[in-house]
Amino acid sequence: MVAIAFYSITGQTERFIDKIQLKAHQISDANPKYDMGQKYILIVPSYQDFMMDSVVDFLTYKDNKKNIIGIIGCGNRNFNDLFAQTAKKIAATLKVPILYLLEFSGTNQDVKNVRKIVHDLSAGQSTKEVQKPKELRGNISFLSDYRD
Ligand SMILES: Cc1cc2nc3c(=O)[nH]c(=O)nc-3n(C[C@H](O)[C@H](O)[C@H](O)COP(=O)(O)O)c2cc1C
Repeated sequence: MVAIAFYSITGQTERFIDKIQLKAHQISDANPKYDMGQKYILIVPSYQDFMMDSVVDFLTYKDNKKNIIGIIGCGNRNFNDLFAQTAKKIAATLKVPILYLLEFSGTNQDVKNVRKIVHDLSAGQSTKEVQKPKELRGNISFLSDYRD
């Protein structure tokens, strides 16, 4: 099974991880430098950049930046253009695809969709073949340097 790393500040993403019932490494503020040592998916909520220092510390540790194969973004659509801004920025910076976007701790449908994405990737499907979030199907200027 493809590995998962996630970050959570107020617990919503952690609840989503509980719901998908897949093993995942939680990036901690106390000790963010953890070596994934294998290909993995990153699941992150969205906040202003200064609140994501632990995620940056995690990503810049050992080969974590190289081993990331895709990102799942959590957020709140009331933030409009800034919806899932953290996932979008990491995707653009590291040139890795966003695989899925969801709000808060996810709906039952989100749980099903993400479990399917993880299983498909684990079965050898490429990140280009899995379902993509609808926000990313059009032309989004915010993602001008986003690469799929
Ligand atoms: C101070 C603050 C800033 C936030 N900024 C954004 C944002 O820019 N974009 C977004 O989509 N959601 C934003 N959110 C919503 C969170 O990303 C969302 O509630 C998420 O599910 C929280 O995950 P967590 O509980 O795992 O930390 C913000 C929430 C707070 C409290």
